[in-house]
Amino acid sequence: MSLSPKYPVRTQRLLLRPLTADDTDALLAYRSRPDVCRYVPFEPMTPSVIKERLSAQWALTELTDEGQALILGIELAATGQLLGDVVLFWHSREHQGGELGYVVNPDFGGHGYVTEAATAMLRLGFEELGLHRIIARIDERNGPSARLARRLGMRQEAHLIENEWFKGDWSNEFQFAMLASEWHAQQAASQ
Ligand SMILES: CC(C)(COP(=O)(O)OP(=O)(O)OC[C@H]1O[C@@H](n2cnc3c(N)ncnc32)[C@H](O)[C@@H]1OP(=O)(O)O)[C@@H](O)C(=O)NCCC(=O)NCCS
Repeated sequence: MSLSPKYPVRTQRLLLRPLTADDTDALLAYRSRPDVCRYVPFEPMTPSVIKERLSAQWALTELTDEGQALILGIELAATGQLLGDVVLFWHSREHQGGELGYVVNPDFGGHGYVTEAATAMLRLGFEELGLHRIIARIDERNGPSARLARRLGMRQEAHLIENEWFKGDWSNEFQFAMLASEWHAQQAASQ
């Protein structure tokens, strides 16, 4: 199992591609915002944190082993603007399990761009990496993210109560999942 996409990954309106140092200002525009970071594991980022990530975790352009994560920038094809990012974690080779994550600059929210980008990530995960199951972990208070998971066709499987001490509170968490068989059925139904 491995994933080595041909870049850019094209969708109807978007280009997905690895992040570079040229994206620093665009990344800072949303990843430094407390509102954007409220329900994600990271804190608002500074330029030095972004620089460090760009040269380490975010420099990966393929998945060759479990434990790795592939983060791709979401670029609006019409303008070349970076509007957000999506990530695919490869958790387990044995269980063929992965996880999806996403963040958008609020200036670009509400147009379905993340749905489009996340669908492309599911496709890479299921059809190219060969995952069996992809999950999304979502804070109960994060309505837009839960709506997005449902729009992607993911099923809510769990509602965990106070399972993590998260940013100063016990947090309740929804877990969503999609199986490869469900992905293929959804693709067949949309033909
Ligand atoms: C979660 C998050 C990515 C959702 O962003 P979003 O803008 O709602 O997602 P999309 O780009 O897919 O847009 C979907 C919205 O646009 C609307 N929309 C408009 N045109 C659309 C189209 N062509 N296709 C799909 N949706 C469209 C949808 O109805 C939806 O709005 P709704 O949720 O009010 O019904 C965003 O809130 C975010 O970045 N939050 C901060 C980071 C975060 O919490 N990440 C998730 C951690 S689990």
